Amino acid sequence: MITIKSKREFAKMQRAGATVFEVHVAVREAAGPGVSLSTLDDIAAKVIEGNNCTSSFLGYQGYPANICLSPNDVIVHGIPSDYALREGDILSVDAGAVFEGFHGDAAFTMAIGQVTPEAQHLIDVTEEAMWAGVREVRKGARLESIGAAVHEVGTANGYGVVEEYVGHGIGREMHEEPQVPNYGKRGKGMRLRTGIALCIEPMFNMGARHTRVDPDNWTVRTEDGSLSAHWEHTVCVTPDGTQVFTAGSEPLAVQFEESSALG
Ligand code: MF3
Ligand code: CO
Repeated sequence: MITIKSKREFAKMQRAGATVFEVHVAVREAAGPGVSLSTLDDIAAKVIEGNNCTSSFLGYQGYPANICLSPNDVIVHGIPSDYALREGDILSVDAGAVFEGFHGDAAFTMAIGQVTPEAQHLIDVTEEAMWAGVREVRKGARLESIGAAVHEVGTANGYGVVEEYVGHGIGREMHEEPQVPNYGKRGKGMRLRTGIALCIEPMFNMGARHTRVDPDNWTVRTEDGSLSAHWEHTVCVTPDGTQVFTAGSEPLAVQFEESSALG
């Protein structure tokens, strides 16, 4: 079932999203060579608590930490450990917060110190693909157009586009219907309408798209050991238009080209 959010509910999701954004800023600021992942998890916990929120992830199906931290070949769901970041690493940071029963969820990938141009390109293209997906979210558009747009950016750059993990609806639950795969057929799928909230989250691999899961049953890695990047935003079709709730302390209004057709 797809839940339609009221203005009041969106206002709560906005607060959750603003908290996620604040976590991102704090982790980005603190991360660097020599800093351990568990230190970053502690920082995230303090920001979440300071905003009268709780972590969406802690305890979710037994997940043992506040955020997911996924270095290098880890695609998603990395558990913050005592691993100390090194110059040249890339790190995906995924955070979710709940405010008065409503969730926000977003991720980004960052460079630790100086990284190779190839690694930076992977990070930048994955972000670009996320925004391409976000720009497909509008009243009257079709769900699969999002994945089609994301996939196009990934394949045009020669990256493996992960298929086993997908974006999702969000609201009272972190994961709601519909699923939002990073592939699809433009103009197909359900029609988006006001009140819908979606997480758009491309995961791109430098090598093949294939994945494997560590014995901890969480850590998802590239099968071929290549680097992976992950970007995510919580995007809502509100009565005031499409807004990204996890991009700042206030919602970010998504602008559309006048001429772009619904599809
Ligand atoms: N943002 C992720 C998602 O959309 C993280 C959830 S994993 C968790 O699925 F288990 F740690 F919660
Ligand atoms: Co998500």
